[in-house]
Amino acid sequence: MKLGKKDFLSIRDFSRDELRTILDLAIRQKPLAKSFRLPHSHPGRVLGCIFHKPSLRTRISFEIAIRQLGGSSLYITDREIGIGSREDPKDVGAVLSRYVDAIMIRTFDQRMVQTLAANASIPVINGLTDLLHPCQIMGDIMTVIEHRGSIDGAKVVFIGDGNNVARSWLNAAARFPFTFILTSPEGYQIDESYIEEVLTDGDPDYRWIEDPREAVRDADIVYADVWASMGQETEKEIRLRAFKEYQVNERLMALASPGAFFMHCLPAHRGEEVTDVVLDGSHSIVYDEAENRLHIQRAIISLLVPGETES
Ligand code: CP
Ligand code: NVA
Repeated sequence: MKLGKKDFLSIRDFSRDELRTILDLAIRQKPLAKSFRLPHSHPGRVLGCIFHKPSLRTRISFEIAIRQLGGSSLYITDREIGIGSREDPKDVGAVLSRYVDAIMIRTFDQRMVQTLAANASIPVINGLTDLLHPCQIMGDIMTVIEHRGSIDGAKVVFIGDGNNVARSWLNAAARFPFTFILTSPEGYQIDESYIEEVLTDGDPDYRWIEDPREAVRDADIVYADVWASMGQETEKEIRLRAFKEYQVNERLMALASPGAFFMHCLPAHRGEEVTDVVLDGSHSIVYDEAENRLHIQRAIISLLVPGETES
């Protein structure tokens, strides 16, 4: 199934069936890619990768994904373009559409990405904004499916800031039947206005619980992220104090389901939001999660970017 010209700016841009199509393709392609048997469905296609923030996983997995499909990539920093200062995002979308076959962008402002996408005739993929990180959560759900069989019915507990990763989990909960709990100090919840927006087209089983011990009880997935995201570096000391009771350590993991998995989008600040023992321990599936960024993003490119053969 091809999805046609469509952007991937938020998980809520897609129906549950479309999201399942992406997940199925990623799971089907993974063994083929790992054994170098994946057909080159997208020869000559170019993915323009714009980065206004640093990256290990997102940059490398997107660049490898398009190569595995027979295409190539361009790494573009804001020094070249100057979106919003030297160039209007509308012009960037229109001009890049004449050169490349898809754009992946990691930046600050989700609205700028929406403007760019609205003026591009090619698919635009969100590689993280301050608001959302949709590809991350698609790879995470793929990882949950691999380890647990299904995301359906899972209790996913996110410990930490109500940030881009947490909001994308909330979006996923608006499409798939699982329970999503955020546990954070008062003042670090997902903004009420965003929750209201999600409720306009979904009915996530979502709760905020202040006490992390109460929240993780019987969790199937315990998920952590940094307490200060990229762009929040000046708040680091305040946040270290605010979140000090929210570290994922052995005592907290012991309250989750016996077979619970620990997940983290990475990069992790070891000794802050998670201890070495948990990150390196038997519950942790963080490196499978990192690997699956490659497989899910290759599936997203396969379905969004017109190629030569059906994926
Ligand atoms: N998880 C994630 O997006 O990692 P990077 O910031 O390294 O891309
Ligand atoms: N919330 C983190 C995620 C990094 C992948 C950040 O935005 O920095």
